[in-house]
Amino acid sequence: MFRLFSSNMAFFTHHIKRSFSSSAVRNVVIKNVTIIGGGQMGAGIAQVAASTGHSVTLVDMTDDILKKAMKGIQSSLRRVVKKTFSGDPESGDDFIQKVMQNVSTSTEPSAAIATSDLILEAIVENMKIKQDLFGFLDKMAPEHTIFASNTSSLPISDIASATSRPDRCAGLHFFNPVPLMKLVEVIATTSTSPETSESLLNFTKALGKTPVCCKDTPGFIVNRLLVPYIMEALRLHERGHASKEDIDTGMKLGAGYPMGPFELSDYVGLDTIKFIMDGWSKKEPDNPIFAPSELLNKLVAEGKLGKKTLEGFYKYNK
Ligand code: CAA
Repeated sequence: MFRLFSSNMAFFTHHIKRSFSSSAVRNVVIKNVTIIGGGQMGAGIAQVAASTGHSVTLVDMTDDILKKAMKGIQSSLRRVVKKTFSGDPESGDDFIQKVMQNVSTSTEPSAAIATSDLILEAIVENMKIKQDLFGFLDKMAPEHTIFASNTSSLPISDIASATSRPDRCAGLHFFNPVPLMKLVEVIATTSTSPETSESLLNFTKALGKTPVCCKDTPGFIVNRLLVPYIMEALRLHERGHASKEDIDTGMKLGAGYPMGPFELSDYVGLDTIKFIMDGWSKKEPDNPIFAPSELLNKLVAEGKLGKKTLEGFYKYNK
């Protein structure tokens, strides 16, 4: 991703001027959004932003990835309109068409970045790549542009440190499936300005989501509680105390969760769960909450990552 952008750097820096005065930085009404990363999360965020009238540019490295993302957005929109426009399929079709018109795609984001109020990254969970990306975009984006990361586990302050605008950097953490999950975590570092937080809170409300605020602490709110719960379920199963099916049934029928921990892990991706846990256990190797799971490590090593690879704890049809 960074390599792709850096080849165009001279072009960007030549064409993009910092044309906003510092007073304009105070209150940013977010209308134009650039989303970097056309995976499941990036595409889901693009869909929701476009559905609520924002102008969205979805950026990724290849046209193939972007084509797949647009196809995913279209089929998710079909599911949404089936419910919201039931009995009026024509209005449903119009809605889909309008939403799709609000999304453009690009492997070359300079024009979009020049007019972006918000750049939101949803790329691979790798600190160096995120820092390189943000450091690079920082040189091209207008002064008022807010930078946000959808990372589920990396410190926002470390990502922001690659920019000259830590006051305009924050976390904006969405949940899968983005079109359905109502929550967005708004993460403020010690450097994030109150105006930036306020702009992001207003943006998430404009998306029809409910924001919650959290400091830049590992796992924020939801993953800090959800991931140890999943790991505890794995350990219960690994000790031979209950089958994964019974644990899933137990949590669905006994605790009212929509999915049991094994189903949810498959849905989120076992690699994602492992990545989050490995990060925490590196920082606190003696904390039993963060102890690794052999079963999880084995499945990830075998490439059984859950629904996306058609096998994780369970098997799936295409
Ligand atoms: N887009 C649009 N609509 C969708 C959709 C999507 N991607 N996925 C499902 N739907 C719709 C379906 O069309 C269906 O609509 P109808 O009721 O009109 O038929 C409805 O949602 C229900 O879907 P399903 O019948 O397929 O399945 P379900 O009832 O089990 O609901 C679910 C699916 C919403 C995913 C639900 O199981 C659920 O809430 N699961 C928990 C998800 C969760 O916890 N997510 C957070 C993960 S953690 C995370 O994301 C953070 C991180 O950093 C790791």
